[in-house]
Amino acid sequence: MTSTDLRARAQAVLRLNDMGEFTKPAPRQYPHQWNWDSALIALGLAHFDLPRARIEIQSLLRAQWRDGMMPHIIYPAGAADYFPPPEFWQTENLPHAGKFPSSALTQPPILATIIRAIRTTHHEFQISHPEFSKLLAWHRWLHTARDADGTGLPCLIHPWESGMDNSPLWADALDRITPRDMPPYKRCDTIHVAPDERPLVLDYERFVHLIDLGRRLRWEPRALLAQMPFLVQDVLFCSVLHRADEDLRALAIELGEPTREIDAWLARTRTGFNARFWDEARGLYLDYDVRAQSPIRVNANATFAPLWAGLATSAQAARLVAEHFENPRAYAPDADSKFRLPSVAKNERGYSPRRYWCGPIWIQMNWLIAQGLRRYGFDAQADAIVRDALALVVQSGFREYYDPRDGSGCGATDFSWSAALTLDMLSQDFAPARLESAIIRHNQGRL
Ligand code: GLC
Repeated sequence: MTSTDLRARAQAVLRLNDMGEFTKPAPRQYPHQWNWDSALIALGLAHFDLPRARIEIQSLLRAQWRDGMMPHIIYPAGAADYFPPPEFWQTENLPHAGKFPSSALTQPPILATIIRAIRTTHHEFQISHPEFSKLLAWHRWLHTARDADGTGLPCLIHPWESGMDNSPLWADALDRITPRDMPPYKRCDTIHVAPDERPLVLDYERFVHLIDLGRRLRWEPRALLAQMPFLVQDVLFCSVLHRADEDLRALAIELGEPTREIDAWLARTRTGFNARFWDEARGLYLDYDVRAQSPIRVNANATFAPLWAGLATSAQAARLVAEHFENPRAYAPDADSKFRLPSVAKNERGYSPRRYWCGPIWIQMNWLIAQGLRRYGFDAQADAIVRDALALVVQSGFREYYDPRDGSGCGATDFSWSAALTLDMLSQDFAPARLESAIIRHNQGRL
């Protein structure tokens, strides 16, 4: 396969999942519009259809809630065999909800970063003042309505907000929750994907139970912060937000908008982030369980996300790379596992190489962490995980996630962001000539 063939295949997946105004994450498993999927998909679309990338972003922004929240699922296509259906969230008649049927949770706020990235390569790609205001309102909502402790580090009220739904990161927090008075519901995620690649039944019940609690609280932000039993600050989410704040600031300057409020968020995160998340003894970043008031002692690959945000010092970056990234017991290849970067360190108790967020490789994590590594000058390591990501899509197609042992594909097929980010990784800006030739060598003519 040549890189031209691979590009054509990636574009075909995005066309296959194109619903006109939005792109489904996958043909059957995910029939609606997802927040950070849509942003990442827009980046891929921009490589071959800039007007369509703009439509993707516009359709995402129109789902914003009146209070600034940007929902994680939007249901433009109405019902489908997907749980939860739109009405399950019970958001109709809420004064702070949006006009579009949507979930009541949010997701990693990567959109400002994507818009800026597209603008960097396509100067004709404009952002309007109203669109900028929507992004600003979302970031403000995250830094205030989700601020439980004055740090401005947003709290997540449900694992789905993290984008890493069933990561072992949430195991202890979920274990404290006993689902009670469960509303009737019918799980659909195991129809299209093997159950052993999806969350366990008890975890799923807790996900549903948390939605039920949220809707009883009418999704009112203060009540959620006060009462939701799941309340965590997450390294990936806060890193994505900080990087997006930087990018929003750059967009503000281009548009002649004031930056004072964004500057204050940036300064506060720079002060609070390392104090909250860095574990000096282990040399990595750990999530924080706000309810239990304790660090979450699980090593997931989100620990590398602060590199993407520029939040680590060079000494912290060096420890992350030497003690974790290059450690064959944790993330580096060893006799049993060929590919990087497992979503959870291989020596973690909850590691499970084919189960969703418990170990498999996700293309968007490689894409994000590679850019973080490059930001700190770890070019060889960045190249290695880009090479692996491309080797996985060549070998196993555009899957949702991959088994790190042999690179076999898991979860949904024809997965949109795996295709979109392949287009980005094959672009000259992402993969300098030196890497492009290394990729071709590494794949020994398969690419
Ligand atoms: C799963 C993933 C989440 C993604 C969604 C749609 O819920 O955990 O990150 O946005 O699927 O692809």
